[in-house]
Amino acid sequence: MSNKKTLKFPKNFLWGTSTSAYQIEGGIVNDWSEWEKSEGRIKKLPSVAKALAGKEVRSKKKKKKLIIEDFICGQACDSYNRYEEDIELVKNLNCGAYRFGIEWARIEPEEGKFDMKEIDHYRKVLKAAKDRNLKVVLTLWHWTNPIWLAEIGGWGNKKVVGYFARYTELIVKEMGDSVDYWVTLNEPMVHVANGYIAGKFPPNKKNIFKSNKVFNNLAEAHNKSYKIIHKQYPRAKASITALINYFEPARKWLLNEIIIAKLFHYFWNDRFLQRIKNNLDYIGVDYYFYDRIVWHPPFKKNKNKKITDLGWEIYPEGIYHVLKYLNKFKKPIIILENGLADECDKHRSDFIRDHLKYIHKAISEGVDVRGYFYWSLLDNFEWAEGFWPKFGLHSVDRKTFERTARPSAAVYAEICKNNQIVINT
Ligand code: BGC
Repeated sequence: MSNKKTLKFPKNFLWGTSTSAYQIEGGIVNDWSEWEKSEGRIKKLPSVAKALAGKEVRSKKKKKKLIIEDFICGQACDSYNRYEEDIELVKNLNCGAYRFGIEWARIEPEEGKFDMKEIDHYRKVLKAAKDRNLKVVLTLWHWTNPIWLAEIGGWGNKKVVGYFARYTELIVKEMGDSVDYWVTLNEPMVHVANGYIAGKFPPNKKNIFKSNKVFNNLAEAHNKSYKIIHKQYPRAKASITALINYFEPARKWLLNEIIIAKLFHYFWNDRFLQRIKNNLDYIGVDYYFYDRIVWHPPFKKNKNKKITDLGWEIYPEGIYHVLKYLNKFKKPIIILENGLADECDKHRSDFIRDHLKYIHKAISEGVDVRGYFYWSLLDNFEWAEGFWPKFGLHSVDRKTFERTARPSAAVYAEICKNNQIVINT
């Protein structure tokens, strides 16, 4: 017989949900939109289809014939026009906060020329959130770049640091009064790895030397941007979002695997945070991955008892270890992304509850966690994978853009309302 136990979260715990500009707005012209249409990308699509039919990816969709439109962001979720409706959805979830992004390419479509109409647009979005009493977590950069910047080498060009500072300065001046938490950069290590080592994301490079330059420029850009934000708002709260994986040696007694797991941890989780740790008011963390490390390539062998539609292992305990690790920075922590691709909504409610159980455990051991944001409010454009992975608490009709709450949305709304979870013991 199982007993029920209620786990209360701290008073004022921030419940939220996250999106990003490019993934939901639609109608954006930037380095990604150009790459999606490029010949090189289109040629690669059959291989994406193959991967979908392959072993690791057990999508419901694996047998569905993929069409090119599934991989072109285009109108995305049309949130540029439907932002009020989206913010209402956040409200209906009983969330106290909404994390969303602004698109640099809209605001500065040509180098040095700022489009004030777009600033006005984003001011309206901020107002819609504020009118509903939501705290705003604003992301300045979520992997996408204006085309002029991509043409001069993107984050590989040192000049990006100055450009990003100028862009930050404008946003702070024009919108800073409505921002509660700043995210300067979303998951910089993913841009370094996928853009410059694995070649999966634009600019599709495989160049370790270049990747190091990009790493340095991203770190410097954050540090500078942080100072700009604080110059105008000394009490501002600014961070990045760090994608932190839980790396564990497959065999805890095997030295090779212990060392390799430590190296992964250092290079993926720790190195960037070390470079910016003096310029963080809080730590924004995204948790999706648990990697069980073996000593031989491909260095990862998960048990995969439970997986998402993308084939990622569901391992809620990992978030506990991630939070314990982050505790050493002695800053408040906000989980700004955690979620899964689950079109049939089979695992989502348990996924959220189980992760929250481990977050609660970390809090009860003294880790200063201030909030939890589910990724994502809506099914959206999942980058190189296109539209098929469904992360949303709400599905989105690809033709009418109609939003429909999945059953897990009601479960999450209940958690947010009561500031607690109820678990079986
Ligand atoms: C990114 C999101 C993405 C999510 C799921 C995060 O790493 O910030 O943009 O959609 O993961 O893959």
